[in-house]
Amino acid sequence: MVNGWITDILSNLSLVRLFDRLGFEQNRLRPILGQEYLTRCLSTKAWFNQHLLIGLTITFMSFALLVLTVWLWSENKLNLTEMIFVLTSVVSGLTWMGDLHIYLHIYLQDIQAGLTEVEKMLEPFARPWDITDGKNAKKLKVTSGAIEFRNVDFAYNKNKAVFSGLNLKIAPREKVGLVGQTGSGKTSLINLLLRSYEVSSGEILIDGQNIKNVTQESLHQNIGIIPQENTLFHRTIRQNIAYGNPKATNKAIYEAAKDACADGFIENLPCGYDSMVGEKGIKISGGERQRVAIARAILKDAPILILDEATSALDNEVEAEVSQGINNLIQGKTVIAVAHRLSTLKAMDRIVVLDKGKIIEEGTPDSLIKKGGKYAKLWKLQTS
Ligand SMILES: Nc1ncnc2c1ncn2[C@@H]1O[C@H](COP(=O)(O)OP(=O)(O)OP(=O)(O)O)[C@@H](O)[C@H]1O
Ligand SMILES: [Mg+2]
Repeated sequence: MVNGWITDILSNLSLVRLFDRLGFEQNRLRPILGQEYLTRCLSTKAWFNQHLLIGLTITFMSFALLVLTVWLWSENKLNLTEMIFVLTSVVSGLTWMGDLHIYLHIYLQDIQAGLTEVEKMLEPFARPWDITDGKNAKKLKVTSGAIEFRNVDFAYNKNKAVFSGLNLKIAPREKVGLVGQTGSGKTSLINLLLRSYEVSSGEILIDGQNIKNVTQESLHQNIGIIPQENTLFHRTIRQNIAYGNPKATNKAIYEAAKDACADGFIENLPCGYDSMVGEKGIKISGGERQRVAIARAILKDAPILILDEATSALDNEVEAEVSQGINNLIQGKTVIAVAHRLSTLKAMDRIVVLDKGKIIEEGTPDSLIKKGGKYAKLWKLQTS
């Protein structure tokens, strides 16, 4: 059981980080680990007691037999062959008793191996993230939600730059749609804003504060995200939505689900909001998972919002419904939305077109269509 719990956390480690819930997960895991340890100790004790009882009985009986044999022999009631046979049995009984510590050792080794396995699984969980807060890191204060990428260089591998000298300013509460071919750097830009990776040089500022100088906890508290890879925890729908805000009331959870157009399918599940979603959310469809993720973001209600292909798993009909929820969600927030399906970016104030890590076009959706450049080409391709 404990292995399942750990696997669930590890496969959603990025969510734990982005929702700043490491402490929450540790507190959740602690009693289970304690229980596991206790169970193993108790089973060892029971095993030992049982074997000790058998051993002591054998020893007692062996000695009794020994005494009886010697007495019968002294009374000439046993011949030598019979006596040797009885004594051999006594010796083998006593040998078994002598081997008890070897069995115990093997049993304890098995338990130790099990605990080492758990310990190994927990290692990435207990280790500090590669990117740590500076000594004097302050809390990020988001007043209006302005974002600026200033002269940013970044590479995953030294010999292949993703961004060099990237500049992008996003005004408070502006809604920016990021467009570009696969591999153009959209998710990387988001990763940098979330500080999942560190810029090689340059700065990323939120309301004038370099994100390198603020605590990651405060950074993540102020950014809501619907990630591209949408997995859920192997928990109930209710727990998955409440991951956005652990203090949320049931009423707030139901309202968030309604805004994300998730209430319909949830109420049709056998246990409603208390239905388990399976490992990584396997028991519900991709579109349903996405709606749970949208509800989670609605509940978090952060001033900056990132949508990385938030509606990619939805069919057109559901997308139309969900986009209403998303429209409710993005009001009054600074938004960066990534989408391959350009129709989903209609509500954006500005489209930024990326190509190999460079901004090659930007403007309102309509102005870019009129311009007849890369965006217009993509638009034509998708609408024709
Ligand atoms: N973790 C990583 N390690 C190494 N290289 C990476 C990593 N993630 C992305 N890349 C590379 O960085 C470049 C930009 O990738 P990124 O994921 O930002 O593209 P994207 O625009 O989000 O693409 P998509 O539309 O397919 O999601 C690509 O060349 C990609 O191969
Ligand atoms: Mg991407």
